[in-house]
Amino acid sequence: MKRLRSAASRDTREQNDSPSLRSMLQARLSRRDTLRGSFGVTAGSTLVGAGLAGCSDDNGGSSGDGNQPPELRFQSVQGVAGSGIDTIALPEGYTYDALIPWGTPILGDFPAFRPDGSNTAAEQAQQSGEWHDGMHFFPIDGSDTNGLLCVNHESLSFDFFHGYRVENGSAVTNRETDGNGLPTNADQVRKEINGHGVSVVELQRMAGEWRVSDNGRNRRITAVTPMRFSGPAAGSALLQTAYSPDGTQGRGTINNCGRGFTPWGTYLTCEENFRGYVTTQEDPVPQEKSRYLINAGGFGYLWHGVAGDASEDNGEFARWDTTPTGGSAADDYRNEANHFGWIVEIDPFDPASTPVKRTALGRVAHEGCEPGRITPGQPIAFYTGDDDENEYLYKFVTADAWDPDSPDPDMLDNGTLYVARLDASGSGEWIALDIANNDTLAQNFDSQAEVLVYARIAGDLIGATPMDRPEWSTTDPDTGEIYLTLTNNDEKDASSGSPNAANPRDPNLWGHILRVREDGDDPAATGFTWDIFAFGAPADADPDTVNRSGLTADNQFAGPDGLFFDPRGVLWIQTDNGGNAVADATNDQLLAVVPGGLRGDRTLTADNQSALRRMLVGPGDCEVTGIVLSPDARTLFVNIQHPGDAFPPTNGFPAGGASGPDNLPRSTTVAIRREDGGEIAL
Ligand code: FEO
Ligand code: CA
Ligand code: CA
Repeated sequence: MKRLRSAASRDTREQNDSPSLRSMLQARLSRRDTLRGSFGVTAGSTLVGAGLAGCSDDNGGSSGDGNQPPELRFQSVQGVAGSGIDTIALPEGYTYDALIPWGTPILGDFPAFRPDGSNTAAEQAQQSGEWHDGMHFFPIDGSDTNGLLCVNHESLSFDFFHGYRVENGSAVTNRETDGNGLPTNADQVRKEINGHGVSVVELQRMAGEWRVSDNGRNRRITAVTPMRFSGPAAGSALLQTAYSPDGTQGRGTINNCGRGFTPWGTYLTCEENFRGYVTTQEDPVPQEKSRYLINAGGFGYLWHGVAGDASEDNGEFARWDTTPTGGSAADDYRNEANHFGWIVEIDPFDPASTPVKRTALGRVAHEGCEPGRITPGQPIAFYTGDDDENEYLYKFVTADAWDPDSPDPDMLDNGTLYVARLDASGSGEWIALDIANNDTLAQNFDSQAEVLVYARIAGDLIGATPMDRPEWSTTDPDTGEIYLTLTNNDEKDASSGSPNAANPRDPNLWGHILRVREDGDDPAATGFTWDIFAFGAPADADPDTVNRSGLTADNQFAGPDGLFFDPRGVLWIQTDNGGNAVADATNDQLLAVVPGGLRGDRTLTADNQSALRRMLVGPGDCEVTGIVLSPDARTLFVNIQHPGDAFPPTNGFPAGGASGPDNLPRSTTVAIRREDGGEIAL
């Protein structure tokens, strides 16, 4: 591979001791008595989230006690297929409430949602965004009934985001564009920018139902919210733009897909397919951009179409076209693509805080960023997949040990980023992307900042294992093992080592779930073992080649994506099947299994099929993604993303009924509960 373009090699790490944040964190953590009680941050237990309590057995539930795995106590719901289905299917005895559908007023003037999609950009900035994805629940003062829900808004369906009309019997979008598909209405573009990002919403449970409350903590973070860069690439020449000539500031977060959380009480949002938004007219597209699949059209947003509008503020539209315009990088937006693809840390408890892009975790199409087992006195590992065909699995290991008595709010700035190589023997190696200790990287990059900005290229150079689109990972609270969804891959590339033992099916239209165990259960280990926990497949597919886990009509799935171990040891699997594979049998869905309850090598086989059960089937043309359990395990929050997503839209979820210009489908968080108030699933 040819040498990359030179970059400034000065030591540019931003120095920021954040004293006020540090003392605030200490105060917050110390007042949480639950932290060392039901929360259980002790050696040998997993911190599932800041303030997310493990379930105690004194409430009549049947949670696992550490040695005794819990048993699922619900029957699989039948598959439901069809675009017109406008509700969700749940097991008998379960019900749901729709929470914060797209457009729900959450702050400011609380502008009401207009069901014809005619809200303005300014109104959208005070409402929930669209395409709900990864989320996490942060209890307030250890409460079971009051907390902050952080919800990602990955994207939107721009054909009906501004509403649509019917002319001569055909649906016509209200999105205004020119003959080249470039948007022409600046307020519509701003509304799309404001429909992305993250919502922080305070919830309170009253009389069994969760409701949005407002105590000054609600917040919208959008694709234009000011952010700062931190870590080794902050201040790098590769981050210089006309907006931030010193390369330390950025605007907005985009395509927020999976999520993570830290034990010091912050939310991590993951920037995935930024290639859908940043574009370039360069021909040929330079390697640094083409390796990230950046091209002239993206996903069709083309927000630079309204550049030069009289209302434009400081290049807010122009920046989405990264074609150099002359001068230096500090004069234009040639580096704007380098501003996305990061893990972004948000303090949900401080609505005035500036989100931080943590460059030490590398720049890829990040899917999730969940920590492994957290043990005081040890470093913390964060696992993150790069979701594209034949991309890699990464982990970041903090340089410092976790000290709950003195939490370091900048812990994500110092550490080592590794990329995974998985060998056919069932072992694997974490290879450090550290220019100081790798001759290949030293020969091809000028600085650690450059390695991190172009982490994909670094992974190529050191021989990482191509994977079948790594999506979410999650950590088994009992064993510390990491489970990882690999959603599918029909673009195997034998020349780069795919298929391989860890991604064996070619093509892989159905996805699988990989399991990783660190050597010595050490988060900083550089060696690990792996096996495959489950293969997605249609129930009637060949058991030797495709349906290798022996799935049945009760649990067949494809496109595993969201993945979440709850504190009791229940593994939840969400699907993004995209209308392929098992779509004739069922829409996208949520399944549950307790790996700790499986005999033998704890993999799914034809002999233990009743262990994997279908909890939910979503409405037509949705994806089921984003999940978290309430502290008392009485509510399971799940996101229904892009219901009815076709043009014209195919259903009116969550309001129900048929869609129409006055009944647009809306992405929605659903709060699932048992009608008898009992614990979910057990
Ligand atoms: Fe946004 Fe990889 O799913
Ligand atoms: Ca996903
Ligand atoms: Ca996906």
